[in-house]
Amino acid sequence: MNYRHAFHAGNHADVLKHVVLARVLGYLVQKDKPLAVLDAHAGIGRYDLKGAEAFKTGEWKDGIGKILAEPLPEDVRALLAVYLNIIHDLNPDGSLRIYPGSPEIIARLLRRSDRIILNELHPVDADTLAARYAADKRVRISRVDAGQAVKAELPFKERRGVVLIDPAFEVPGELEKMARMLDHIHARMQNTTILAWYPLKQDGAEQPLLEAAAALPCAGTLSIELRVREGFAEGGLAGSGVVVVNPPHTLRSEIGTVLPVLAARMGVGKWGRGSVRELTPPR
Ligand SMILES: C[S@@+](CC[C@H](N)C(=O)[O-])C[C@H]1O[C@@H](n2cnc3c(N)ncnc32)[C@H](O)[C@@H]1O
Repeated sequence: MNYRHAFHAGNHADVLKHVVLARVLGYLVQKDKPLAVLDAHAGIGRYDLKGAEAFKTGEWKDGIGKILAEPLPEDVRALLAVYLNIIHDLNPDGSLRIYPGSPEIIARLLRRSDRIILNELHPVDADTLAARYAADKRVRISRVDAGQAVKAELPFKERRGVVLIDPAFEVPGELEKMARMLDHIHARMQNTTILAWYPLKQDGAEQPLLEAAAALPCAGTLSIELRVREGFAEGGLAGSGVVVVNPPHTLRSEIGTVLPVLAARMGVGKWGRGSVRELTPPR
């Protein structure tokens, strides 16, 4: 396991994933009932953009750096507020140094009655997570393979919840494994909201995941994509997508409003392009 998310924190892919996550959680916490969230590939929760790894790649400069560089249109600013407020809270002096990973976004948006399971297989990262959230009674750290985690943790006793699947794509067959994870989650808890992040490259390798998502008997499953540059035959990230199974009914139009601005800000030249597709018919 060589992948270190710190090299990529705050890049275009993180922005897309975290905007979607924040909109989904912001919606779900409006209802009084408790919920559980399983972050199946949690990372370390917070990232120092001035630290050695992020400094080396500078990926965040073309991601969150571009989003914060200029004022946003009012409607987009309002929709991004739930995400951007977390960044502002982590950087009270107005600079941009600390970027929130998914565990931080989850911990800041969930309520006292909610439950958070942070799963991370890398032992050093899992230790970092455990230390970081030791005082948070809602959080439990799990250290198993993500595929095992979804089987062990679901169904949630709360009967409401979210699973985030966000692998490192270090090993072959990751998209097929994600497709199996969707099936396992759905078999255990039909109403879970699932967010599954995937890379967009030139090869269209995301198809098995999209087909598995489309095959689930869930209404209005979305595929939200943001391309930022041309795909190259040698590989490399041209953009990314998030599948959302059981999305809030508000998500499609919200993301439709936000995506053109994300694409214009983070896209290279004329390549920035966002799309929201329904993989299954809405209710
Ligand atoms: C893309 S990063 C996660 C980023 C995080 N979700 C966020 O948005 O801040 C993927 C993480 O998965 C971890 N990982 C790799 N293989 C795993 C596996 N089989 N099961 C669980 N975690 C794994 C990596 O160590 C890495 O921290």
